[in-house]
Amino acid sequence: MSVPVIAIDGPSGSGKGTVSQRLARRLGWHFLDSGALYRLVAQAARNHAISLDNVEALETLAAHLDVQFCVSEDGSPPRVMLEGEDVTTTIRSEEIGGDASKVAAIPEVREALLERQRAFRTPPGLVADGRDMGTVVFPDAEVKIFLTASPEERAQRRYKQLKEKDANVIFDDLVKEIAERDKRDMERSVAPLRPAEDAVVIDTTGLGIDEVMQRVMAVCEERLGRMS
Ligand code: DC
Repeated sequence: MSVPVIAIDGPSGSGKGTVSQRLARRLGWHFLDSGALYRLVAQAARNHAISLDNVEALETLAAHLDVQFCVSEDGSPPRVMLEGEDVTTTIRSEEIGGDASKVAAIPEVREALLERQRAFRTPPGLVADGRDMGTVVFPDAEVKIFLTASPEERAQRRYKQLKEKDANVIFDDLVKEIAERDKRDMERSVAPLRPAEDAVVIDTTGLGIDEVMQRVMAVCEERLGRMS
């Protein structure tokens, strides 16, 4: 019997990261943050001074990425190690996010990361967070959810997050960056950001995280028929 997968896709700021982590914790399932893998390729490229035009070197980098996700017992997000160094916070910057979106548009890089992502599918189940979980990586996922929110609300959420760490964040710059990243993610030729045909689309604009969780749980209960 195949291991069940809940695929949660959507653009950044749609709430999918928080929802996926909460869901995984609640079910006691594994969690895949696929965006982190693209961020890690971007970070490794910086570490090794590899240009984002050098497809061959990026492909090799992606195929041999030395990473570890260290799951903590207290329920906090996993620590991410790259080549033995803790990069949990570093890879969350807007710069790395922008680079990640560029490397994610390279088919060879996506292909190199495919098996690594599928290897996360181990018992009792997997909650997979990304852009193409339901369309490409786990097309046979039992549950597929696509979270969206208006671009303004997504920029607001991101602004609030970043403002806590960096007082110099400029809201208008963020709106522009998010729009550029969305466009690149949606228009790329391989695995573009879009809902799978059998995905349930949930618009989270104006909803708090608890309300989003309720809706997501309702979809999971209906599809899996065995969650409390
Ligand atoms: O979810 P995130 O912001 O950490 O993702 C970083 C970038 O990686 C984002 O611009 C799109 C890309 N990505 C992707 O192409 N496919 C995925 N499954 C996850 C992320």
